[in-house]
Amino acid sequence: MNLNDIKIIPMSINNIDKVKDIETDQNINILSKESILNDIKDEHSCYFVAILDKEIVGYIASSIVIDNMDLESIVVKKEYQRMHIASYLLDFLFNLAKKKNVVSIFLEVRTSNIKAQNLYRKYGFEIINIRKKYYKDNLEDAFIMKKDL
Ligand SMILES: CC(C)(COP(=O)(O)OP(=O)(O)OC[C@H]1O[C@@H](n2cnc3c(N)ncnc32)[C@H](O)[C@@H]1OP(=O)(O)O)[C@@H](O)C(=O)NCCC(=O)NCCS
Repeated sequence: MNLNDIKIIPMSINNIDKVKDIETDQNINILSKESILNDIKDEHSCYFVAILDKEIVGYIASSIVIDNMDLESIVVKKEYQRMHIASYLLDFLFNLAKKKNVVSIFLEVRTSNIKAQNLYRKYGFEIINIRKKYYKDNLEDAFIMKKDL
């Protein structure tokens, strides 16, 4: 797979079912259909899908408040993981954030999610705080991570 064959385009209503399938295939539920539907209409949201050969292979979701960005979610289809698609999506988002004069990017990640923490650390995020029992499903703690652009 060549990363140059991937197109990153804004997420649309037509993509939502496929985006949710990528989550449910991995038994995860980060964004609800309703929240995606609302957020893609919001001018502060930056929701994008990665397309390879007409197939959605991943997505990234974030929103901007003044000069801070909140990275809400990044998910890559199971069969396409470890091929640097998440890295490609993050590079894309960082470029966009810089163009929009974002100074810092924040995110929350489950303390058990080592894959994602490795990804974020590789891209310069640092743990700045811990939010106790942040996740409603299992009351897991979240690390809050931050990266300055
Ligand atoms: C986390 C996730 C998005 C990474 O996607 P990916 O496309 O496989 O990631 P990349 O190939 O770009 O990997 C970049 C870095 O992430 C880290 N990483 C990715 N997968 C990893 C794994 N299975 N184990 C350990 N580190 C991992 C590594 O540091 C890797 O760098 P390297 O390839 O130089 O070792 C993907 O595993 C996923 O969709 N997970 C489920 C959803 C999720 O947890 N999202 C984050 C919370 S919202």
